[in-house]
Amino acid sequence: MLFDLEKASGAVAYKLLTGLVAPRPIALITSMDAEGRLNAAPFSAFNYLCTDPAIVGVGISNRPEAAGVLKDTGLNILATREFVVNVVTEDIADKMNICATEFPHEESELEAAGFTTAASAVVKTPRLAEAHAALECRLYQVIDMPRSKIVLGQVVSVYVEDRFVDPKGPYVKAEELHAMGRMNGLGNYARTRDAYVTINRFKYEDWKRGRE
Ligand SMILES: Cc1cc2nc3c(=O)[nH]c(=O)nc-3n(C[C@H](O)[C@H](O)[C@H](O)COP(=O)(O)O)c2cc1C
Repeated sequence: MLFDLEKASGAVAYKLLTGLVAPRPIALITSMDAEGRLNAAPFSAFNYLCTDPAIVGVGISNRPEAAGVLKDTGLNILATREFVVNVVTEDIADKMNICATEFPHEESELEAAGFTTAASAVVKTPRLAEAHAALECRLYQVIDMPRSKIVLGQVVSVYVEDRFVDPKGPYVKAEELHAMGRMNGLGNYARTRDAYVTINRFKYEDWKRGRE
């Protein structure tokens, strides 16, 4: 099948792209409003985009039920110019899912999910104590879209629980972290436990020699 996305609706693009750009990392973002009220919500329109400087990008759409109103996470980031990306692993996936519920602004999804917080090293917004790794970000740039915003954040500090760090790199022991990936918008996820394969890259000369 061929889909002409210049003619199709955004809903069609959403269904196709979330099924094909997968598995996607999930940023469970903690953010604060101007009064210091804390918010947590997952975003899988997310990736790192640059390492020098360290930039991550997040696509945050408007609230589905309120036309033209950005989701709380987006409003908070615009207000405080900072946020924290908590890495979603298997053990906190169910809690993450509770945070995706459209809670009213004054109700805490963190409490509902049973998350607690820990102070961040650089930004005021705390990280989630139950998350094994977190990226502290300052707002770098906002790209306005008709019904959403693309937020670029500069990562100013990275927290990783000691047991998941190989200090030689420093590398993340990703095969032990058990991060989850989102596979579509239908509630399907990929586990990375027992799914690890190593595919080493090789130099052109080695590839050529292998074919001789
Ligand atoms: C795994 C997962 C990934 C999600 N990714 C996004 C996303 O990339 N962009 C978005 O706007 N909403 C995304 N959502 C929906 C938001 O998490 C949901 O609308 C949430 O209630 C927003 O909360 P907030 O208004 O407190 O920011 C995702 C939901 C789930 C479960």
